[in-house]
Amino acid sequence: MSEQPIPNTGFEINSDFEAFEEEFASKAGESLKEVRPLPRISIQAFCETPQLLSVIEAVKKDRRLARTHIKAFSGGISAATEFFYEAPTPNLIILEATQNYDQLIEDLDQLANVCDSGTKVVLIGHINDVHLYRDLVRRGVSEYVVTPVSPNDLIMVLSELYNDPDTAPLGRTIAFIGAKGGVGSSTIAHNVGWSISHHQTQDVIVADLDVAFGTAGLDFNQDPPQTIADAIKAAERLDDQYLERILTKCSERLSLLTAPAVLDQTTDYDGEFFGHMMELLQNSAPYTILDLPHIWTEWNKHLLLSADEIVITAIPDLANLRNVKNLLDLIHNERSSDGAPKLVINQTGVQKRPEIKAADFASALDYDDYYEIAFDAANFGMAANNGQMLGEMSGTAKIAEIFDDLAGRLTGRAEVQKQSKSLLAPLLKRFSQSK
Ligand SMILES: Nc1ncnc2c1ncn2[C@@H]1O[C@H](COP(=O)(O)OP(=O)(O)O)[C@@H](O)[C@H]1O
Ligand SMILES: [Mg+2]
Repeated sequence: MSEQPIPNTGFEINSDFEAFEEEFASKAGESLKEVRPLPRISIQAFCETPQLLSVIEAVKKDRRLARTHIKAFSGGISAATEFFYEAPTPNLIILEATQNYDQLIEDLDQLANVCDSGTKVVLIGHINDVHLYRDLVRRGVSEYVVTPVSPNDLIMVLSELYNDPDTAPLGRTIAFIGAKGGVGSSTIAHNVGWSISHHQTQDVIVADLDVAFGTAGLDFNQDPPQTIADAIKAAERLDDQYLERILTKCSERLSLLTAPAVLDQTTDYDGEFFGHMMELLQNSAPYTILDLPHIWTEWNKHLLLSADEIVITAIPDLANLRNVKNLLDLIHNERSSDGAPKLVINQTGVQKRPEIKAADFASALDYDDYYEIAFDAANFGMAANNGQMLGEMSGTAKIAEIFDDLAGRLTGRAEVQKQSKSLLAPLLKRFSQSK
């Protein structure tokens, strides 16, 4: 391996770095047998050399990466920067760097401007210097690997990155709850999940927690033999492999954990019941949609309050207003450091039905930022009957845009907002009228 002169630091072989290298070399010799599979993440690799391209091709075929979506491109950090001006950033970027120290740092800083904060970076370079390693860590690079790198080395590095029990879980949970039953909370949850998977190209698991009456299977036109009830029955032996077996793949990036929707059991589980399942879900995909039922049990309350994001759906009448107010008060008291839940006022403008105007409804709750979805029996009815999402149908672009915007705000993935800004400007203006 040839080393380039390193500006600023010179060739200083630091003992820390030697230790790092030693540790790495010993790991590379280990067998892959114990190496855990990677979750449902998207990986894009930018390779400067044909050697790394072929390593990525080999890694792709490994069963531990079977759940990932991995793509390799020719070109290094500047090619990646150019690419991500237009395209959404994946969960993980692998970069190969052949430039010198200063140029490498400059190129990485450029790339940082177009990357989402949640994106991890693994850098493969030829400079063997602990100062560089520290500079990279400071810039948020998750792992630096010195060339040459074998497929096994890379698999091990990636697996450790995603299976480290000391780091925060990979995935975020987004809980959807209705202020009453039948207000459209599940419909919105499913459409937002679909939008994240389809437009943000992120893997999503939609978990239907309405165990007795859930409709996720119907809405996505799926009737799997195994459901969330199996996971509940097998609580003590539930692990990631078991979870894998009961998930139904709806599309490339969307999986479902359906409800059995039968009445053989009641759903009065204890409060902490779903903790382990949530942990598994969060380590399995970047986003989990929790489609919560409209019931008030310990476990449902616990799931709601422990989600990363909350969406409350209501229809514009007095009972809904009171219920949203109570939910907001509780949520505010229990998690005051989190952002406020998103509010969707659904099924507005039903003919002859007296209703509170969406703006007044929101204003009574001190909300100036909310979504309004008009009652549209034809389109929502057709979607439900056909087992389709609104974004898959024709003539429903305006409604689908609302789901896309809500999805973008929930995940915070800026590029989606970038792409849809001009389209959404007039709509957004309407939705953000202040009180
Ligand atoms: N904006 C809307 N216009 C017309 N029908 C809607 C709308 N939103 C939802 N629906 C319909 O309302 C019914 C109840 O929706 P669902 O999502 O199951 O509610 P929840 O989960 O709150 O009980 C479904 O038939 C759905 O298609
Ligand atoms: Mg529901």
